[in-house]
Amino acid sequence: LDIEVNKTLDSTNDFLKKYAKKNSKEGKIIIAEEQTQGKGRLGKSFYSPANSGIYLSILLKPNLHASQALYITTCAAVAVSKAIDKISGENSQIKWVNDIFLNNKKVCGILTEASFDLEGGSMDYAILGIGLNLTRPSDDFPEDIRDIAGYIFHNDNLPKDYKNKVIAEIINNFFEYYPTIENKEFLKDYKKRSLILNKPIYIFRGAKTEEATALDIDNEFRLKVLKKNGEIEYLSSGEVSIRK
Ligand code: BTN
Repeated sequence: LDIEVNKTLDSTNDFLKKYAKKNSKEGKIIIAEEQTQGKGRLGKSFYSPANSGIYLSILLKPNLHASQALYITTCAAVAVSKAIDKISGENSQIKWVNDIFLNNKKVCGILTEASFDLEGGSMDYAILGIGLNLTRPSDDFPEDIRDIAGYIFHNDNLPKDYKNKVIAEIINNFFEYYPTIENKEFLKDYKKRSLILNKPIYIFRGAKTEEATALDIDNEFRLKVLKKNGEIEYLSSGEVSIRK
């Protein structure tokens, strides 16, 4: 592994993409203490202030097909959730597909960007981006995310060297699963750590919100839901939340 730490970058994912195009080696890791253009899923931004979070990207060249990009994200979710629990002593959970929650607040987001061979559909490279809220941002979270965003450590109870420990733990966990990622051995742990399984949920589809119950996560990481009308549906992407 080749780890590079920066104070400020626009986006660690974008920065690493430049390396990826130059055919750099798998395992190149870019870390930033702050991002000015942190990117989230679905074209959203990811709030990435200095001093309170860690933002990192890992360059991967997996032997996966275009349709299997989700393997990387879900594998990383398990790696991060385990790392958080080990260093904080708490029980984090994974909200399908790839957000990590602690005490019902989102403390980590994951964005995998993959580049494909358009003919064969095999993956040229994938950039796995992980953004963690470690402590309370000095200006708190922006108002639009204040209700959902949380952080892992409280300032009056910071484990020694927590930043490095969390990063090391995430990287170690991820690369433990990664060599056999196509076997999906982490799926069992993924399900165990699920925030939504067997719970009532909302499914957000554009302007429409639907009520359902989350039943299972299948072998392709699709969410099996039972809808109000008694129908079963398998979701392969989208946004859900717990329904209280
Ligand atoms: C999400 O919650 O929608 C995903 C957020 C992913 C954020 C990380 S931070 C490191 C990497 N660089 C980025 O610009 N985004 C990802």
